[in-house]
Amino acid sequence: MRIILIGPPGAGKGTQAAAVKLRFPVDHISTGDILRENVRAGSPLGLKAKEFMDSGSLVPDSLIIEMMRERLAKCPAGGFMLDGFPRTVAQAEALDELMKEMSVSIDAAILLEVPDETVVERLCGRRVCSSCGEIFHVTGKPTEADGVCDVCRGPVEQRDDDREEVIRRRLSVYHKDTAPLIEYYEKSGLLRRIDAIDKPGAVKSYLESAGL
Ligand code: AP5
Repeated sequence: MRIILIGPPGAGKGTQAAAVKLRFPVDHISTGDILRENVRAGSPLGLKAKEFMDSGSLVPDSLIIEMMRERLAKCPAGGFMLDGFPRTVAQAEALDELMKEMSVSIDAAILLEVPDETVVERLCGRRVCSSCGEIFHVTGKPTEADGVCDVCRGPVEQRDDDREEVIRRRLSVYHKDTAPLIEYYEKSGLLRRIDAIDKPGAVKSYLESAGL
C-alpha cells in the first residue's frame, strides 16, 4: 500500500498515521520528523532547513525532493504512508517521476479536512515527546504526569513552530502552496476526502471505512 496524507498543519496526519501503522505494516515517512531530526543533529540539511521551519515557511523543493529520493529508496516492500510530502505541485510531479523510476504507483491521496480555527486550537495545545514522538494535547490528550511521556517517560515539549503567529503563517502557506494538490490528485482520481474535525477515534473509523 502506498498512500499520501494531505491536510493543513494540525489536521491530525501524525495522529492518524500512528493508528494506521498499527493496522498495516507500512513505513510511516514524515518529512517534518526527518527535518527535525536533521535540525537536532546539526546536519548540513538541518542547518539549511531550520530557518524556514522556524518561520513557518516551506523548505525549498530541491532539498526536500533530494531528501525523499534517498528515503524512498530505503522503503521496504510493504509500502509507505507519506505524511507531509508532497506539499507543492513541483514535489507531487517529482514524486510521480520517482514512482515511475521505482515501477510502483500511489494507491490513494487522503485529504484530512479541518477548518483553520480548529487547527490553531489543536496546535497551540499540542505537546510532543522528543524521545519517541508520541503526540499529546494539553486538554484533548494530556500526559498522566506533567511534561513526561506516558509511553517512554521521555520529555514532552512544545514544538518551536507551534506558536500562534507561526501557526497562522503555516496555514497561509498551506492554502497558497499545498491546497493546489487537492485538484492535482482529484484529476488523477486518487483523492479521498475525510472529515477530520471529529474526535481522533471517529476520524480513525472514517479512515477504516475508506479501507485504511
Ligand atoms: P510537519 O511536521 O509536517 O508539520 P505540519 O504539516 O504542519 O503538520 P503537523 O505535524 O503540525 O500536524 P499533524 O497534521 O501531523 O497533526 P497532529 O496529528 O500532530 O512540517 C513542519 C515544517 O517542516 C513545515 O512547516 C515546513 O517548514 C517543513 N516541511 C515539512 N515537510 C515539508 C515539505 N514536503 N516541503 C517543504 N517543507 C516541509 O495533531 C495536532 C494536534 O491535534 C495534537 O495535539 C493532537 O493530539 C490533536 N489532534 C489530532 N487529531 C485530533 C482530532 N481529531 N480531534 C482533536 N484533536 C486532535
